[in-house]
Amino acid sequence: MAKKPTILDPADGLVVSEVGEWASEKHARVQRYIEIASKARALYVPPPNWRGGASYIELFSGPGRSLIRDTSRIIDGSPLVAHSAALTSDVPFTAMHLNDSDPAMTAAVDQRLRALGVIPATYSEPAEIAVDRIIAAINPAGLHFAFLDPFNLDGLSFEIIKKLARLQRVDMLIHVSVQDLQRNLDDYSRPGDVFDRFAPGWYDHVDTKQSINSFRAALMEYWLGEIRKLGTMPAKGVELIVGSKRQRLYWLVFVSAHSLAQKLWDAIRDPMKQTTMDF
Ligand SMILES: C[S@@+](CC[C@H](N)C(=O)[O-])C[C@H]1O[C@@H](n2cnc3c(N)ncnc32)[C@H](O)[C@@H]1O
Repeated sequence: MAKKPTILDPADGLVVSEVGEWASEKHARVQRYIEIASKARALYVPPPNWRGGASYIELFSGPGRSLIRDTSRIIDGSPLVAHSAALTSDVPFTAMHLNDSDPAMTAAVDQRLRALGVIPATYSEPAEIAVDRIIAAINPAGLHFAFLDPFNLDGLSFEIIKKLARLQRVDMLIHVSVQDLQRNLDDYSRPGDVFDRFAPGWYDHVDTKQSINSFRAALMEYWLGEIRKLGTMPAKGVELIVGSKRQRLYWLVFVSAHSLAQKLWDAIRDPMKQTTMDF
């Protein structure tokens, strides 16, 4: 397959990724969470407190700017959205740890943040490796927010969530691709394939002979149950983001061990978009 041409942002000459217009919807959730969590963050950052800092973590960061497909509109990517949301709420993160397995993406996000006066810690590793390096680098006593935004379920190994959940204070916003789950159900179900990494043990708990919809629902329920066993709580109102033709694109799942964080998320979910876990 021919390699996609690199697209540059004329504003800074750096590479951009291409996204659907709905990318802004997930950014809006990241932004609102960071703004509303600023009071909690303030307790961890100097001055006057120093209780381990407050870090922002992405394992699939992208380049920091994205072209909306079929338009000429370029928007900020999640790391830049996160930085400016923290800055506008007067409680910047004490550290940003950003990983993308594509070194060109890492280089671009690094330069873009430096241009804004932030020096991020950047990594170019598969997410399963980067997670260990990032956990080793952050202060375990701090307050951390991780946005996990892979293209597909292949990147979303359960090990990553398990390792992050061991941190004392971490909130996670996780993107689960519905489209990927729908399109690749058969392939992913094979022994040793994606579902074995996404939801280890699923095969013993999910009946593969039921209808596709019920299978999907059962798989997701199993996955959420496994997250609960980690001592964290997936928030009740998982958000379904839909495309311009109302097609289901992805779920945003908020995971936190902290009752206040659950309240925060309840406060920022768009009531119009709120859905129960509707598979
Ligand atoms: C959906 S994009 C991230 C977009 C970004 N969060 C935003 O909203 O601006 C996913 C990124 O994950 C990277 N990626 C793909 N597989 C990966 C892996 N196994 N580990 C780490 N990064 C990966 C891709 O290069 C891509 O830039």
